[in-house]
This record gives sequence, C-alpha cells and structure tokens, in this order.
Amino acid sequence: MKTAYLVRLVMKLKKLSAALLATAAVSMTGVSMAYVEIVSVRNEPVEPIQPAKITDPQLVKLGAMLFFEPRLSKSGFISCNSCHNLSRGGSDNLVTSIGHNWQQGPINSPTVLNSSLNMAQFWDGRAADLKEQAAGPISNPGEMAFTHELAVEVLQSIPGYTTEFYRAFGTDRITIDMVTDAIAAFEETLTTPHSPFDKWLAGDDDALTATELRGWNLFKTSGCVACHNGAALGGNSFQRMGLVEPYQTTNEAEGRSAVTGADADRFNFKVPTLRNVELTYPYFHDGGADTLAEAVDIMGRLQLGKRYTPDENAAIVAFLRTLTGEQPRIVMPILPPSSDATPRPRPFDD
Ligand code: HEC
Ligand code: HEC
Repeated sequence: MKTAYLVRLVMKLKKLSAALLATAAVSMTGVSMAYVEIVSVRNEPVEPIQPAKITDPQLVKLGAMLFFEPRLSKSGFISCNSCHNLSRGGSDNLVTSIGHNWQQGPINSPTVLNSSLNMAQFWDGRAADLKEQAAGPISNPGEMAFTHELAVEVLQSIPGYTTEFYRAFGTDRITIDMVTDAIAAFEETLTTPHSPFDKWLAGDDDALTATELRGWNLFKTSGCVACHNGAALGGNSFQRMGLVEPYQTTNEAEGRSAVTGADADRFNFKVPTLRNVELTYPYFHDGGADTLAEAVDIMGRLQLGKRYTPDENAAIVAFLRTLTGEQPRIVMPILPPSSDATPRPRPFDD
C-alpha cells in the first residue's frame, strides 16, 4: 500500500515538473518559435498556415511514440509512419500503399501534414476527425491488420508505455480511446508554416518570383481556387472528379457515395490539400498522375474545360511548389522495449 502510494506521489511530482519544464520551454521560445500568429496582409482566398500550438506536450510526446510504433501492427513492422512518412511529406509516394503481408492497398495515401485542417478525414470523408480516423488503420486487415484489444494489450505489457500513459492521462489503464487521443494530438502539431507563398501572403513581395506569381494569378482566374481554397487550399469540400470530362481510372473507389449512399455523390472526393504538394506525388485518389505537370493538365481539362499552354502549365506548377512549408522537425522517438509478457509480432501470418 505504502509503496504504491509513494510511487503515485513520485509520478505526480514528475508529471508536475515535466509540465513546468514544458511551460518554461514554450515560454522561453515563445517569441521566436512557439506561437506567433501569421497574418495575411493581402485580400486573397487563401490564408497562411499557422505554427502548431502545443497545449499538452506530454500527450503530444506520447502521440509521437505511437505514430512511430510498429507494434500497433500484427507484423510488428508497420507504423503510421510507414505510409505517412514524415521524411517524405507525410505520404509514401506510392500509387497505392502497401499493407500487411505486402497487400496492395486500394487507394493513394494522403498526407498527414496539416490534416487537422480537413473538414473530415479520408478521401470519402468517412471519419469525422483525426481521433476517429486513427482507430481505422490499426484494425484494418489491409493495413496494420491488428485488433484494438491486442494493440492495447501490447502497450499495457510494456512498462515504458504505462509510465507514459500515466503521465499523459493520470491513469495507466490503457484504452484505445487514449491511444487515438494521443495520436490525434501529435497529428495536430504537423503543420507546415512559412512556405514562400505564406511569406508572400504575410507581405514579403520578394517571396515569389514573377513566374510563381503568374501561376497564382492563373490558378485564381481560371477557377482552380473555387475548389482549392482556405488555408489548406483544399480539405473543405467534396467535389466531383471529372466535372467537365469524365476521369478514366481502373480504381474502384466510388468516393463520397460510399458514405452517403446517394447516387449524386458518386465520384465526389474530398478536395485534397495542395500544401506541400510537390512532396506528395503521385497524385489523385488512384495515384494516376506521376507529376505535377500531369496533374495540372488533367485538372484543367477535366474540372474546368481548359487546355493550358506549356508556359501556363509551368507557371502553375511553379506556384504549387511555393506551397511547400517548413516540415515538422521531429526527434525520432526512442520506443521502450517489449517485456517478457508482450505478445510477439506475427509478420508472416495472413
Ligand atoms: C498501410 C498504409 C497505411 C498505414 C499503416 C496507415 N495509413 Fe493512414 N492512410 C492510408 C491510406 C491509403 C489512406 C486513405 C484511405 C481512404 O481515404 O480511404 C489514409 C488516410 C489517413 C488519414 C486521412 C488524411 C486525409 O486527408 O483524409 C490520416 C489522418 C491518416 N491516414 C493517419 C494515419 C494514422 C494516425 C495511422 C496509424 C495509426 C495510419 N494513418 C496508418 C494508409 C495508411
Ligand atoms: C471542381 C473542383 C475542382 C477544381 C475546379 C480543381 N480541382 Fe484540383 N482537385 C479536385 C478534386 C476533387 C481532387 C481529387 C480528385 C481525385 O483524387 O480523384 C483534386 C486534386 C488535385 C490535385 C492532386 C492533389 C493530390 O494530392 O492528389 C492537384 C495538384 C490539383 N487538384 C490541382 C488543381 C489545379 C491546378 C486546378 C486548376 C487547373 C484544380 N485543381 C481545379 C477538385 C478541383
């Protein structure tokens, strides 16, 4: 009894000092990094990306560990970062992802960068938010192929994790809800401020070249901005893919109608963000376009009935490249070792 109480007390003190240290760190860097809102001085349909606001550093730290944790998969090999590689713009740069046992995924992996700005998650918007989304891949047989019960059992069996959960939640009885809370808190920090375009929005006239600026003007005047607007240049509506001309694909995804059942929603997809788009090739839900030039050409023809000259296409592509912001700087989390009681990975089971 007495030792248990002492352990709790020590944990509480540790938590308190961690919180104090974190507050000190935030306030120390407050001016240069932690939080300065970026304000646009121009009257444009796109707003700058804001730096991440970290309100619960312990939860974010745990979320980062879980994001990189391959033991949340049956194989012990696939983590969120396998398909949303933060060294590669938060995506896997594959046509469609590779899941458990080298299964071919059904759809292109969208970036997790700035995903907190999406009005809903997934191409068809079937998850309301990041927390709901994070429950999906762990138990998806084509992705991490695990179960929520087993994922919790694995974490619960690792002393290094029970300590971290205790620090974040005040209890070491882990639930899947706590797991998805922490992952979502981490994902909320994955914003990419200070892109050249945002510097221009904030008033720096030299942040864009004449060609890039011409690309932005073409993007606006030809109508791309009708669907790609807001801070993320997307993520805030579902739109038909192939509005003027049908899109040719062998991919079976039917889009929003899979969620609503409404025929009118067939082939409506969540408009993807164009932030960091130069890093997140190949493009479209089926990964059907390899290059930005190809994606711009298809968008022009299929969504707007426009054929761009090579010069115009190049200017729009140049503009799109100015949307690459500062990538999150993440210290690779060191994951605690399994214990003797931890269920072992089963990489080669179906
Ligand atoms: C095997 C590859 C794979 C793994 C592992 C994986 N994802 Fe995904 N993720 C995808 C694919 C593919 C989609 C798109 C699925 C769809 O829209 O139907 C997606 C969609 C998402 C989205 C929605 C983004 C948007 O713009 O709609 C988020 C957020 C996300 N994943 C986070 C995670 C997290 C967190 C984990 C770990 C718990 C994870 N993913 C594990 C492949 C993967
Ligand atoms: C009517 C709405 C609409 C208009 C107009 C529009 N887009 Fe899109 N855009 C979308 C949708 C929806 C998708 C996703 C389609 C899919 O994956 O099947 C998309 C996807 C993209 C992508 C691929 C992003 C990725 O990560 O896969 C790029 C690049 C893009 N659009 C650029 C443009 C440009 C440039 C224009 C103007 C020439 C434009 N869009 C006009 C709705 C629109």
